[in-house]
Amino acid sequence: MSGALLEVRDLVVDFSRKRREKPGAPPARRAVDEVSFTLGENETLALVGESGSGKTTVARCVVGLQHPQEGSMTFGGTPLDVVSRRPAALKRELQMVFQDPRSSLNPRMSVRAIINEVWRTNPAIAPGRDREKALAALLDDVGLDSGVADRRPSALSGGQCQRVSIARALAMKPRLLVCDEAVSALDVSVQAQILRLLVDLKQEHGLSMLFISHDLGVVRQIADRVVVMRHGELVESGDAAQIFGAPQHEYTRNLLAAALDLSGAEA
Ligand SMILES: Nc1ncnc2c1ncn2[C@@H]1O[C@H](COP(=O)(O)OP(=O)(O)OP(=O)(O)O)[C@@H](O)[C@H]1O
Ligand SMILES: [Mg+2]
Repeated sequence: MSGALLEVRDLVVDFSRKRREKPGAPPARRAVDEVSFTLGENETLALVGESGSGKTTVARCVVGLQHPQEGSMTFGGTPLDVVSRRPAALKRELQMVFQDPRSSLNPRMSVRAIINEVWRTNPAIAPGRDREKALAALLDDVGLDSGVADRRPSALSGGQCQRVSIARALAMKPRLLVCDEAVSALDVSVQAQILRLLVDLKQEHGLSMLFISHDLGVVRQIADRVVVMRHGELVESGDAAQIFGAPQHEYTRNLLAAALDLSGAEA
């Protein structure tokens, strides 16, 4: 597809370094096995699949933390190399939000310091003189009171910490947010609030999102399109309505049935 913001082609990540000793022995399973997908501007693409299916490994390749053995990726038409070889502007445009907001924020720094650190290390995107105003606007964007600026992560709830993580990513003025299980550690009601925030931010800032989750209930609330992975391979992909309404693959049907059982059990 031309015009895609992110294009991933035949991505392979193989963590097993051992060569096959005997001819005919089965090859070790690849963590990511020839996975291809595209993500359009202002689109939310969800990567779903059971634990160990390779979702995080794909995300780490996209943000440049993992070097794939094979395949290619482009972002806005530019080839994506590992992060150390990416131009600063490209690094800035791809930001990741992690599962555990507390451990991804420096506990010794106030929220103000956390955000200012982003601007200090990226002078090209730093707001002009009135950083306090920019900080207040950023916090407002993520639904936090400006009083939060003086607090440290330990004085904030899990949901507030995740809002700070999102603010820190937004401070970089990204085009793509990669959210890896970004709401999985939160209570269901807080999950819903953060999901709503992500949907709003996507609209307001024209963001695209690669949204990784094992929770199909969550994915259903946010995804435009869905890629289903199993054992490193892409099982099927399509519009969210099609994946949820008329899944083609038995594995997807089982995942959906398991999700339904779970929500039934919780009700
Ligand atoms: N650094 C690593 N070294 C060796 N194996 C790894 C490494 N990272 C991931 N793996 C393996 O790669 C496979 C895919 O892992 P990955 O973390 O990408 O799955 P996932 O879909 O994100 O799972 P989860 O839902 O549990 O987060 C797994 O078999 C995992 O054990
Ligand atoms: Mg993972």
